Amino acid sequence: MPRHKSITEIVRNPNQEDSRKIARLWEMARKVMDQAQHGSSAFEEKQRRINTLLEYLGHSQLASVLVLDAACGCGSLLFVGETDTRTWYFSDGDNVMVKTVVEKCADSFLISRIKQAYWHEIPGVFEAVNFDVVFILGNSLPYIVNWSDDKSEAEITAEGFAALKHSFSAILQACPKGHFVFDLHRNHTQMSGKTEFEGRVLHPFINAVHRDGIRYWVVGTEEEQYLIKGLALDIDTIRGLLLDVGYKKIEQIPEQFELDPFYYSMFAASR
Ligand SMILES: C[S@@+](CC[C@H](N)C(=O)[O-])C[C@H]1O[C@@H](n2cnc3c(N)ncnc32)[C@H](O)[C@@H]1O
Repeated sequence: MPRHKSITEIVRNPNQEDSRKIARLWEMARKVMDQAQHGSSAFEEKQRRINTLLEYLGHSQLASVLVLDAACGCGSLLFVGETDTRTWYFSDGDNVMVKTVVEKCADSFLISRIKQAYWHEIPGVFEAVNFDVVFILGNSLPYIVNWSDDKSEAEITAEGFAALKHSFSAILQACPKGHFVFDLHRNHTQMSGKTEFEGRVLHPFINAVHRDGIRYWVVGTEEEQYLIKGLALDIDTIRGLLLDVGYKKIEQIPEQFELDPFYYSMFAASR
């Protein structure tokens, strides 16, 4: 039987090693998702899609256009930051994720544009920067709070919504005239695949189920699995929170401009 560890244990007993493993598992899962959707041209296709999406939103290819990937995870969009003519910044709340990205960028000009920041900290951490676009991708919004077994689902939901509102308000402050772009999971089922990672062939998988306002997400390999609880968010709830903090327009991005059309639907909020 694989070891099945709850994220709650990790939150109670924070351990850099667990966090590192989750970062690695996510990196593998992301690789499998990209390959499943775009095959061996995943890199070029993702880059093309990001450019098309930004153009669709009205953000030209000028270096003066400032883009923040605010849930950069292990840096799945780093390659875009390195090649796109716009100016990219990267942040994540998790210090292990950020460390992973910084290690990857040791020799890159991007190194000074990678910061650890929870979403509500963005205006302070990127003090002098007015972003044109802030991305939160990969269905990252459900992770907004740290969970504890002592809390009821209603408490988790209330805490999550309050934290989201705080985050949305900070994102609007950091990107007052541009677009906040996020995505939501479209298929609450399963994803699995085969990938080579650090010299080994692995079969990572993801299984997500929504129940009573909570999203249960299992990610792992044959050897090791993690259960991660998050908010099961729907766009109407998110739209309400965004309008509350001052956004005026929340549009669904047409499918031809989506980045991960099989997995995620995308939205852009602006004032
Ligand atoms: C599922 S991963 C997605 C990573 C990446 N965007 C991708 O698509 O591969 C979710 C990321 O959101 C980050 N995150 C969750 N809540 C956050 C918050 N409140 N502030 C900043 N980062 C957060 C997590 O640390 C994690 O790296």
